[in-house]
Amino acid sequence: MSQLQQVLQPLIERIEYGISQQLEDVDLIQSFIPEFRRLLHLNDWLPSSYRQPNPERYQQFLLYRDLQDHFSIVSFVWDKGQTTPIHNHEVWGVVGVLQGEEISQRYQRNALGHFEITGEPDHLKVGEIDFFTPALGDVHQVSNALSDQVSISIHIYGADIGKVERYTFALDGTAKRFISGYSNQEH
Ligand SMILES: [Fe+2]
Repeated sequence: MSQLQQVLQPLIERIEYGISQQLEDVDLIQSFIPEFRRLLHLNDWLPSSYRQPNPERYQQFLLYRDLQDHFSIVSFVWDKGQTTPIHNHEVWGVVGVLQGEEISQRYQRNALGHFEITGEPDHLKVGEIDFFTPALGDVHQVSNALSDQVSISIHIYGADIGKVERYTFALDGTAKRFISGYSNQEH
């Protein structure tokens, strides 16, 4: 077992247990948040190859994927001021900040089919955690809150997120299909 997997193992086991109990999305997420929080407060566990920014675009490094694609753990590395398009996920997701700060702004489709901001932006600092599910709304735009520093967050998703067919959206409601893949893999 790699050192990285050893560090992740208690979290992986909590998630596997919750999935084996067939918990609803929110209950499953709540069941592993304490273990996730513990991980975010550990020092120096994420190898440098998974924390490299790219000035061209934000990076998504696969850290772990369940053999049956039930969940995946990813590091997001944001160079200064980088941001995603508005996008959905199709599955639950949990986000926690490891370094720097991240902003997530939720969006909702209105009666005209356009996307509108819903609620205040979530501004997460080191150790802070946010989550979403398809039932609660899973459309957002995420950004590095810092214009002068790299930020890194750990994301956990209820599928092998790099393979999920999902959408980016323009404010006028136009949807564009995408499959994110990972920065550390060919597909
Ligand atoms: Fe997202």
